[in-house]
Amino acid sequence: MARIISGTQIAAELGMQVAQDAARFHAERGRAPALAVVLVGDNPASEIYVRRKIAQCRKSGITSLEHRLPASLSQADLLALITRLNGDPAVDGILVQLPLPAHIAPVPVLGAIAPGKDVDGFHPVNVGRLSTGGEGLVPCTPLGCMMLIDTVVDDLRGKHAVVIGKSNIVGKPVAMLLLERECTVTVTHIATQGLPDIARRADIIVAAAGAPLLVRGDWVKPGAVVIDVGINRIEQPGGKARIVGDCAMDEMPHAGAVTPVPGGVGPMTIACLLANTIKAAIRHTRSAAA
Ligand code: GUN
Repeated sequence: MARIISGTQIAAELGMQVAQDAARFHAERGRAPALAVVLVGDNPASEIYVRRKIAQCRKSGITSLEHRLPASLSQADLLALITRLNGDPAVDGILVQLPLPAHIAPVPVLGAIAPGKDVDGFHPVNVGRLSTGGEGLVPCTPLGCMMLIDTVVDDLRGKHAVVIGKSNIVGKPVAMLLLERECTVTVTHIATQGLPDIARRADIIVAAAGAPLLVRGDWVKPGAVVIDVGINRIEQPGGKARIVGDCAMDEMPHAGAVTPVPGGVGPMTIACLLANTIKAAIRHTRSAAA
């Protein structure tokens, strides 16, 4: 059987480290690290994610400053809030939950967040730093994927990684991180021709296409590591929904290691968000003191 990489366990270990770091920050600076969480509208999935993020902040000794705003909020008002949070010395990190309502364009909003407080790593300056090997804030899900891979692969150098999905949130940044570690990286997506053949050449597959059970057992070479970023809701007869990933894991006992859904990449995303908040807080208070 393939080894199961428990994101739940690895995220719990990272969470303990974050709690220690938050406690040290609090002792040294006289206040807890603080993350502003901005939720516009009432998207049910976003509501669940934001609630989880806030609960984890609380558990780790990070202050969450909640800004729940109506779907009718104007883009100008959202930009004004971000400007205020950028200038607030008591705010270390800013997270604007996506998706935003249709009348608000995400690009100017994400671009308005101060790069040093951009704990999602979505600001063009952080994207640029990631692609040039600089010291920016790195998007949370890709960071979590790398930590999971590092628990089962000793040396990434020269390994062939196939990324399925080209999103700004996962596909592109995880490709950059793998490249930085000297993997040979192939970025594919839903329109790629001959995708199963390309996947079969991979030592590592990162599936982030948002396509339920896209990656079948015969796409995976024996011993390959399969990281499943997908979280897809499948409606079942009888009304009960089931959550599945992008990979048919029960078809890949011959894989070297796989991440489960749920309990794989998901928990790592929030743990990395908190780790990014600590990193931003330390840098931000250091530069304020300088
Ligand atoms: N929506 C889905 N994933 C994410 C994420 O990682 N960050 C934010 N801010 N919104 C999201």
